[in-house]
Parts: sequence; structure tokens; C-alpha cells
Amino acid sequence: MKTLFIKDILKEDFLGKEVSIKGWVYRMRDMKDKVFFVIRDSSGIIQAVVKKESVDQKTWEDATKFQIEGSLEVKGILRKDERAPGGYEIEVKEIKVYDYGKPFPLKGDEDVDTIQKYRHLWIRTRWFTDVLKIKHSLIVHLRDWFIKDGWYEVTPAILVGNAAENTTELFEVKYFEDKAYLSQSAQLYLEALIFALEKVYSLTPSFRAELSRTKRHLHEYWHFEIEAAWYHVEDIIKVMEESLKYSIEKTIEERKSEFEELKSITGRDISELKQFVEKPWKVITYKDAIKKLQDLGVNIKYGDDFGSDEERLLTEQFDVPVFVTHYPREVKAFYMYEVGDGTVKNFDLLAPEGYGEIIGGSEREWRYDILHKKIEEWGLDKFKVKVGNEEISAYEWYEDLRRYGSVPHSGMGLGIERFLRWICKLDHIRDTQPFPRLRGSWLYP
Ligand code: 4AD
Ligand code: MG
Repeated sequence: MKTLFIKDILKEDFLGKEVSIKGWVYRMRDMKDKVFFVIRDSSGIIQAVVKKESVDQKTWEDATKFQIEGSLEVKGILRKDERAPGGYEIEVKEIKVYDYGKPFPLKGDEDVDTIQKYRHLWIRTRWFTDVLKIKHSLIVHLRDWFIKDGWYEVTPAILVGNAAENTTELFEVKYFEDKAYLSQSAQLYLEALIFALEKVYSLTPSFRAELSRTKRHLHEYWHFEIEAAWYHVEDIIKVMEESLKYSIEKTIEERKSEFEELKSITGRDISELKQFVEKPWKVITYKDAIKKLQDLGVNIKYGDDFGSDEERLLTEQFDVPVFVTHYPREVKAFYMYEVGDGTVKNFDLLAPEGYGEIIGGSEREWRYDILHKKIEEWGLDKFKVKVGNEEISAYEWYEDLRRYGSVPHSGMGLGIERFLRWICKLDHIRDTQPFPRLRGSWLYP
């Protein structure tokens, strides 16, 4: 195994000592009597120089045979060198060759299709490695907040028999002699689990067969969802402001150098993120949001749903994320708690700078009669499943939750890639996933 990474060498005092590093050729310059390598590993880059006069014939020949992304281990003395990237250089004594490598198909200026074709290789790109590390940190610290706050991590089903969200956006799969769907949301299962554990969360893939081809839609994304008994929608809003701020703050601390490097690619400045953490986030009603848009000259009326254009315009009015609450019942899902004035107790969290919706959340309809009617009204009772010799509504079990000790409860779902896209200031959601599933692109790699 490997115990020493480039960042460890740069951190600890290895100056003048012999070090050995395993990694890949990031850059290479072949002079007459010297070969300069920049070697990369998962933690960083370091320059290594092979001098013809100070190595044996075999080592010198090996040094000249590498391609970009060839793999090797170099052993040598660590010296300071102002001219080297990072300020250090290894003066190589020995090279262990793993693979000289074939000419690497990516140079760094490829179009979208070529990048997708070689995505399995492209993911080594340094700025994308930064995005992956930031994604890791955001997830870890978000989870950490919920663990510290006493929530349980649970593992809901992914192959399911009904729709949690829009029925037109379901991926159907063969399930032996029956059909099943890929889960759009863990919510209905989390609702069942709160009667045992009260406060639960899960991180699962969610699938959406949306026809839209936009910069913020993936067909497969990672969904962080929470559900809690006795919580009202205001409580979930509070929990999410606090936990997201925590996750962002910890990630900034942990990923300074990654953000520094990313800045030249996307323009994201840590100081912008800091002010999202420091300022209180806004809460406005759907009704006020419509009014605001109308005042801005948008042709929209009460009852319309926001598209990405409206969300962009709306978020540009605020310098912090905004929770938009109390949407009309018709534009939202069947399970949301009806206030009685035609609105539901829900919220969408819109990220600033035009990014728009990153969370959908609500208080759940916990009254049996109203929920039952809504399932009929939404036409969901057409979903049937075989249970023993019977064919019953695929929502029967969900309605049971309102028959046996129903309680007020609320929850939300955060799209991890939408969150990451905003935090990294990425233009397209494809660059939040190593292997994005997008309409109009291949199922390759
Ligand atoms: O608003 P949505 O559809 O809400 C739900 O699924 C609820 N059942 C969640 C819950 O209460 N447990 O989706 C939630 C979030 C969105 O706000 C968005 O961030 C993300 O999931 N999302 C997508 N992300 C990427 N690509 C897509 N096609 C997405 N669809 C939703
Ligand atoms: Mg939504």
C-alpha cells in the first residue's frame, strides 16, 4: 500500500532527506541531459528531476520513455526549488516503472462529446478532482451535523412499486414477472421509519425520467433526505439553514487549497461563501414571490409554478438563499399538508446567484381522510401491486401510516449535485458527477 502522499511530503520536514513517491506523470519536459517530471497523486503535485549524470543508464532510459499519465514511483532527495510548482523538487535517484503509458487522448481543450467519451480518464483533471473533494466534504459535514443532532441514518428501498413524485417522470424496470420503478425519493419510506426512530435521514440515488434537458437536471442524482416526527415545516427550515451553514463552513475550512485552485476555473471566491454562512437566510411566501416577480415585469400569475428563469430572477433579488413557502396545492405533490386556503405547508429552498431550487420540503398530510381523497384526486390509486393473491393500491401501506398512530411530521430532500453546483459556482450540473446521466448523452462510460 501507499503510506506517503505528496501533501505529506510538502507538509512535514523532509528537506534533504530521501523520499519516495508513487503517482502519475502530470507534465513532462525532456531536455538533453535532464528530464523534468511533474508528478501528481490524489493529494497534489510535485516536481521531480532526473539528471543524466547522476543516474545509471537504465534509469535515464526509463525516464525518457514516459507518456503523460504514465505511472511510476520515484525515489530521491527532496530539495527546495523556487522555480518548481509548489516550491519543492525531488532529485531522482531511482525510478520504478509501472506503466510508461500510451499517448493520452485528452489534452485539455476537448469538446463536450469527447470529454464524455473519455470521462473515465477525464475525471483525473485537477479542477474536477477539487470538485470531487469538495463534494466529499459537503456530504461528510452535512451528515455529521445530523448525527450530532440525534438523527438516525436509514436505508430505504430503491426498487419501488409507486411514485413519490411526478408519475410521468418514472423509470420503469423489469422486476422478474412484475414491473418496478427506480425510486424518485426515499420520502414515503422515511415516513414509515419515523414511527420507529422519530428522526431519520438517508443518502440515496434518486432517478427522474424528466424530458427536460437543462443545466440543472440529471436523471440520476444523490438525494439527501430527512424526515422527523413532531416537526413542523418551520422546524425543518431552521434545521436546514443550520445544517447547510455548518456543512459549508466546515468545507471551506477543510478545502482552502481546492477552492483556491477552482477559483481560476469557475470564479468561486471563498469570501462569497463566507457571507452566505454569516448572514441570516430569507423566508418569503409564494404569494410575495409572485408579487415580486410581477413588480419586476414578469408575466406570471398566482397559481403558476416557477420555471428556472423565474427562480433565477427571484434569487438575484437576494444575496442569501431564500425559502419560498406556501405554494398553491395544485403545483405541489399530493402528500403536502393542506392549510385550508388553497396552499400547502411546504418550502423550496432557492440558492442565490441564479442557481434556484436545491431543496423541496414540506409538512406531510397526516390526516387520513384528506390524504386518502388526495391520492384519488391525483389519480394515484391506479398504481396496483400484487400482495399474496390480491392486487391492492400501491399506496395502501402509506395510508396505513395515517391509520395507526398518525402524528404531525415533516421532511425535505436536498439534491447533492444542485448544492455542489452552487457551492462551486459550476455552470453545468454534469460537472458535479463523475459519470453523469444526462438526456442526449450516452450511457458510456
Ligand atoms: O423537489 P423534489 O422533487 O422533492 C422530493 O423529491 C421530496 N420527496 C423530497 C422530500 O421531501 N424528502 O426533489 C428534491 C430535490 C430538489 O430540490 C433538487 O435539489 C433535487 O432533489 N432534484 C434534482 N437534482 C438533479 N436532477 C434532477 N433531475 C432533480 N430533481 C430533483
Ligand atoms: Mg421540487
